[in-house]
Amino acid sequence: MTTETNNTIQFTPERLAKAQEIIARYPEGRQKSALLPLLHLLQEQEGWTSPEGMDYVARLLDIQPIEVYEVATFYTMYHLHPVGKHVIEYCRTGPCCLMGGEEVLAHLKQRLGIETGQTTVDGQFTLKEVECLAACGMGPVFQIREKYYMNLTNDRVDEILDELSK
Ligand code: FES
Repeated sequence: MTTETNNTIQFTPERLAKAQEIIARYPEGRQKSALLPLLHLLQEQEGWTSPEGMDYVARLLDIQPIEVYEVATFYTMYHLHPVGKHVIEYCRTGPCCLMGGEEVLAHLKQRLGIETGQTTVDGQFTLKEVECLAACGMGPVFQIREKYYMNLTNDRVDEILDELSK
């Protein structure tokens, strides 16, 4: 497998060691199974999942870049463009909508001054809409990294944004 890109991305020594440990969990010839966690390592280091980074991961796994692109473009958790410090992943699925999700989303957009897919001018927040976050009984819901914010109201959104902006 070869990629002839002008690739300057490399994992830090610590992340490379972690990547090699993850790859070693899988049988010979099945190294592609390590793709998702390696993409997480990439995004953790670079802040997003860039084409150059995906090419780097493809080389580490000795697979074709298209095999990485196929996976990275399927999952909304991989950011395919540069993002802000806090990425708000807002559930847009039916049960959350029934709990007032659309109204809260409108408030969130107004408060941030951006639309879905955009980043605030100060680089603090990126807004993404995603499908069900598996917390339907506590909607409306959004997620920032591993943390869930549930039972959202306009006032609660204001509190969260104020706290994160400090
Ligand atoms: Fe929003 Fe399931 S519908 S968490």
